[in-house]
Amino acid sequence: MTILPAGRSQPSAPPLYTIEKTAEAKKGMVVTAHPLASQVGIRILRKGGNAADAAVAVQFALAVVYPRAGNLGGGGFLVHRNEEGLVRTLDFREKAPAAASRDMYLDDRGNVIAGISTAGPAAAGIPGSVAGLAETYRVLGKYKNWQALVKPAIRLARKGFRITALEADRLNRFRPDFLTHNPWPMPFVREKSWQEGDRLRQPELAATLARIARAGASGFYKGPAAAALTNVMSNHGGYITQEDLDAYQAVWRDPVRIEWKEYTLYTMGLPSSGGILLQQILSMIEDQLRPTGGPRDVHNIHLIAEAERRAFADRAKYLGDGDMVQVPMDTLMSAAYARRKMHSFDPEKASRSESIEAAGEAPTREHFETTHASIVDRFGQAAAVTTTLNDNYGCKVWVPGGGYFLNNEMDDFSAKPGVPNIFGLVGGEANAIAPAKRPLSSMTPTVVERDGKLWLVLGTPGGSTIITSVLQVFLNAGPFGLSLEQAVQAPRFHHQCWPDRILSEPDAFEASVQKELQAMGHKLETTAYIGLMEAIGVARDGRFLGVADRRGDDHASGW
Ligand code: DON
Repeated sequence: MTILPAGRSQPSAPPLYTIEKTAEAKKGMVVTAHPLASQVGIRILRKGGNAADAAVAVQFALAVVYPRAGNLGGGGFLVHRNEEGLVRTLDFREKAPAAASRDMYLDDRGNVIAGISTAGPAAAGIPGSVAGLAETYRVLGKYKNWQALVKPAIRLARKGFRITALEADRLNRFRPDFLTHNPWPMPFVREKSWQEGDRLRQPELAATLARIARAGASGFYKGPAAAALTNVMSNHGGYITQEDLDAYQAVWRDPVRIEWKEYTLYTMGLPSSGGILLQQILSMIEDQLRPTGGPRDVHNIHLIAEAERRAFADRAKYLGDGDMVQVPMDTLMSAAYARRKMHSFDPEKASRSESIEAAGEAPTREHFETTHASIVDRFGQAAAVTTTLNDNYGCKVWVPGGGYFLNNEMDDFSAKPGVPNIFGLVGGEANAIAPAKRPLSSMTPTVVERDGKLWLVLGTPGGSTIITSVLQVFLNAGPFGLSLEQAVQAPRFHHQCWPDRILSEPDAFEASVQKELQAMGHKLETTAYIGLMEAIGVARDGRFLGVADRRGDDHASGW
């Protein structure tokens, strides 16, 4: 210990990372949840890679430096726009194992058994991320070789990296869960508690990444890495088998395309509910939104909340994996239907969710995690990728010999009609569990054109609030005319029909607005934060502006 002369304070340590919340650049931009991942992406762009290449490298890096959400053991969605403006989406969402069944989380009396769809091996769906990244590179990549995209992550896992204060806090907070679900040593549990700046090494993850670098997706879905996963399953009550891993495939899908005023939004369709709901909400508010009022105007807040209520009612009733259930997309997304849904809208009064649809009561929890990366390159391509383990560190099971956390995405199914999941979302038949089915998601990676030109790339974590956060940032930057920085950093609010309340960040509404909303009959509830938005705007002169959310370690890197 150094004893300093009286009156002199200990010189403070240099900051671990210089976190840039905004960046401006001409050639490329990468915005992610962690400065190291953003830097990995920029390096790939500088060395000739395109946005898809950078997206792959960033996802592998996030699996190392952002273990609560970055992943090999989860799944996600990519929305990609090429230089000609062609937009494709890739679905690498987890699937239910073949042994899954509709009532697998119910007891003999038909009640949901608390906790098994959220923690432990039985909560995990078949991971899709590695298949998704391999497919992204196969179809869209142009980088010299695949190995080079995995290499930065291998290095970070092998040599270790210094953890941020937020990561240290999470690791300490989840230590009891790690101990409960992992009767084996793991790098996240040690004698001492974690502190900012501690080095985290993940040699087993490095070994799995090295296999993926050598063999592509087979390095994960076959051989020793797959055996590590199926061992956990067979010995600890999970369902995923080698046949499930062999059968997993990522799927290219048409984007949801939303024409709205001078904007065209391209976003994710089923099995994400994000695109359909974004379209429904925008359609329901189009005629009555008052752009001059801005985002803090009580009329606009009420209107948006009421449209959200109505869209989420449809989510619960009609939406599920489009490969397995009939979803009346054309009706749900028609202008006539939006008008009909808004017949019951009263500009002076909150509707009651019971009058929209029947449903159960829902609990709420904070701090779930997912992660989004937005990337643009000098070729004119854009990539928006949202991936998740669902909850923080997924089902808390870290695969020994594999080196990664498994998701608890099975909780995104409706375990029983009307019984809410961890996001308070309810569902029914359309989102019931079935073998090889994908659970309904809210992830909404989005690319927006304005007057036909690339204008905005965005996305965020936040469970059900993902959809409404993407909506708000788009409205803020679009019709409300805020700068992109203001648009991203503005406080957010959210309505999901059940529970029947507006959830908001504490500073979202001025006191007078709060009173007016309550007088209209809205219940108000606050939560510490909503979302971690990563956005890139393209200015008229072609320059990129990256904005990373103020709410986390999120970082924008430009080139
Ligand atoms: O797919 C979904 O909608 C959820 N599994 C996402 C979870 C999430 O965003 C948690 N993060 N904050």
